[in-house]
Amino acid sequence: MEIRGVVPGDRAELLALSSRAGAGSPTESIWGHPESEAAVYFTPYLELEPESLFVAVAGGQLVGYLAGCVDTAAFPSEEERMRAAISDHRLFTKRRPLMFFARAAVDAVRPGPKAGELEDPRYPAHLHINLVPAARGTGAADALMAHWFARLAEVGAPGCFLQTLVENPRAGAFFERAGFTDHGPTPLVPGLRYRGARVHQRTMVRDPR
Ligand SMILES: CC(C)(COP(=O)(O)OP(=O)(O)OC[C@H]1O[C@@H](n2cnc3c(N)ncnc32)[C@H](O)[C@@H]1OP(=O)(O)O)[C@@H](O)C(=O)NCCC(=O)NCCS
Repeated sequence: MEIRGVVPGDRAELLALSSRAGAGSPTESIWGHPESEAAVYFTPYLELEPESLFVAVAGGQLVGYLAGCVDTAAFPSEEERMRAAISDHRLFTKRRPLMFFARAAVDAVRPGPKAGELEDPRYPAHLHINLVPAARGTGAADALMAHWFARLAEVGAPGCFLQTLVENPRAGAFFERAGFTDHGPTPLVPGLRYRGARVHQRTMVRDPR
């Protein structure tokens, strides 16, 4: 298992990896359209901050990645990326995304705290991590996280946040082991369902070391 930064020749394999690395998790597919999901949750990291993107390689193949952002405030927001993806991919003309956004609109009027990106200057950085099933439980996730923490230290060790789901206990346990702790409420994620049930955003933070 090798962990390394990305090189230009990785692009096609990385894009394919990004749509299958979440397999089996509650965020395997968010609105049922992998290209536009990658346009929100993966491609901007590859294009705007490749120096914070690390890959795990096994048997000559990419098997996992950690996509980081050291300064969330300077990065296009999740909402901006989502708006661009809806328009670029004409998601309102596609059945599954349309059902997702209709459900999201209904969920969004429910009372209670709202899901959204963390805006807290103590935690400017954030990350996403996904491994194909065969690479889970091998130490690859720890090794990716070690590279990310080294990158944070290199840029001044700012605090870091991530957002997972209450309904993803394996990811939560991994992040706790990596030194992240819970932060704030666990609001409903509008539109998203896992095994037919509503899911809840879990924000976790790690203080500068
Ligand atoms: C979340 C994720 C990155 C965590 O990685 P992981 O490898 O599964 O998690 P861990 O490092 O905690 O490993 C889990 C198991 O591997 C074991 N393990 C860890 N390092 C190991 C190593 N070097 N050698 C062998 N086993 C190891 C752990 O002991 C643990 O075993 P246990 O569950 O029996 O106690 C990964 O599960 C994943 O990509 N999941 C799907 C996508 C996802 O949910 N992403 C997060 C979205 S927010």
